[in-house]
Amino acid sequence: MTTQIPTRDDMPDLLADHPLPPGLPSEATLARLASAFLAALPDNPVVVSPSHVSPGSKGITQQLRGVPGDALSITQQQYVPSLSGVGTDIGHYYFINTPQPSKTGAWAGSGIHPPFDVNAVRRDFPILAERVHGRPLIWFDNAATTQKPQAVIDRLAHFYAHENSNIHRAAHELAARSTDAYESARSKVAHFLGAVAADTIVFVRGATEAINLVAQTFGRQNMGAGDEILVSHLEHHANIVPWQQLATEKGARLQVIPVDEDGQILLDACQRLLSNRTKLVAITQVSNALGTVTPVAKIIDMAHRVGARVLVDGAQAVSHMRIDVQLLDADFYVFSGHKVFAPTGIGVLYGKQELLDSMPPWQGGGNMIADVTFEKTLYHKAPTRFEAGTGNIADAVGLGAALDYLQRIGMENVAQYEHMLLLYATNALRSIPGLRLIGTAPEKASVLSFVLSGHRPEDIGAALNREGIAVRSGHHCAQPILRRFGVEATVRPSLAFYNTCEEVDTLAAVLRRLTRG
Ligand code: ALA
Repeated sequence: MTTQIPTRDDMPDLLADHPLPPGLPSEATLARLASAFLAALPDNPVVVSPSHVSPGSKGITQQLRGVPGDALSITQQQYVPSLSGVGTDIGHYYFINTPQPSKTGAWAGSGIHPPFDVNAVRRDFPILAERVHGRPLIWFDNAATTQKPQAVIDRLAHFYAHENSNIHRAAHELAARSTDAYESARSKVAHFLGAVAADTIVFVRGATEAINLVAQTFGRQNMGAGDEILVSHLEHHANIVPWQQLATEKGARLQVIPVDEDGQILLDACQRLLSNRTKLVAITQVSNALGTVTPVAKIIDMAHRVGARVLVDGAQAVSHMRIDVQLLDADFYVFSGHKVFAPTGIGVLYGKQELLDSMPPWQGGGNMIADVTFEKTLYHKAPTRFEAGTGNIADAVGLGAALDYLQRIGMENVAQYEHMLLLYATNALRSIPGLRLIGTAPEKASVLSFVLSGHRPEDIGAALNREGIAVRSGHHCAQPILRRFGVEATVRPSLAFYNTCEEVDTLAAVLRRLTRG
């Protein structure tokens, strides 16, 4: 049996025949994206067999790389099921398979959001109206940092205009306001991550500091000679160096889970590396250099079977997909605020309550103590025991505002829109002669790392900058994974939900011009 795949001409009928379930992007948005995407595909109507559309069949990049039939199977697998709603075979993509929130957390019941309209969203980010070298700014450096919506900027201004005080320490009105704002931000983070309680959330400077905290408390407490720490080849330096330092100090060993030619974790190898010597697995959920979405839930399950704890580096995941630490059963989960539309200098360590409470404090000072004498100090429980000194109060409040903003947009809307944009951009870049994408996993988020023959990454970055396009070029603080693919540097456009197909077209046009010299 074969299935007729719709062509771009069928799209208006399809949209008319299949009303959207609530919470999905508006028909206008989907139609625009669908027709933009279909425009990039071959013209001929194509017939594919149902085997192409079974769950767990081919992913984005294999499909785009393949023959026209393969390419158009995306149309059926990605668009038609989204349009026709529940009960359809919709494949296994992360944005469709985002876990249902656990009872206690993760925006449970937040279900219905206004339809996603990228132009409306863009108006929320004042910096997107900026001009650079006389051209409209195109911000494709979202993996390095994200831009901030007006709601976050306003919240910071409000804090400093009406609430500013140190927290927890005084009986006056402003201390109460700032303490309430800070603790309310902690609750919002807990809610965002699906955590069971606000006390499982420690505010830190960013993901790097969170990982160092775990290495120097849990790590020092639990790691001994001959023990092993397992990381993946995909890791950012922030999820390698602290473990290397710990391993050196304790006589432990750092083991590395390899990846395949597409940049996907090799689960068999992971299984072989796990043993009762493994005390901790530290793994990214999305690679900052390649964009690979890793199977963290499976890895956590495998690690727990040998008694190891798992830290998930969520720095590149939180802005792209719904997270539920309880469903994942993550022991630790870390992220940076600035990667999720919040200010810099604020980040989060989530830890299971019993773990955090059993870990020794990290830095000593005010705020984290229950009682101090010259003989001895008694510490607070988590999270306060890990927050010595005056923290970044205003930016924590700003993080809360960013999460409120994301919640209003709807994480499923974000994930779905970005997934389509990534497909569109992957297709656009693949059509450029001499361009090699580094990182071609079927499940990816946001990142399109590439090299272009005859051009140095830094020169491409500079050429794009002259056109107002911001990308990162370099090693992206992830040298081991780039070297795994035989390169020292790539150009890395990275997307967020405020980017558009037109911006991708501009990027592709500039690159095409470069290739023509
Ligand atoms: N970790 C950030 C990046 O990937 C800085 O660019």
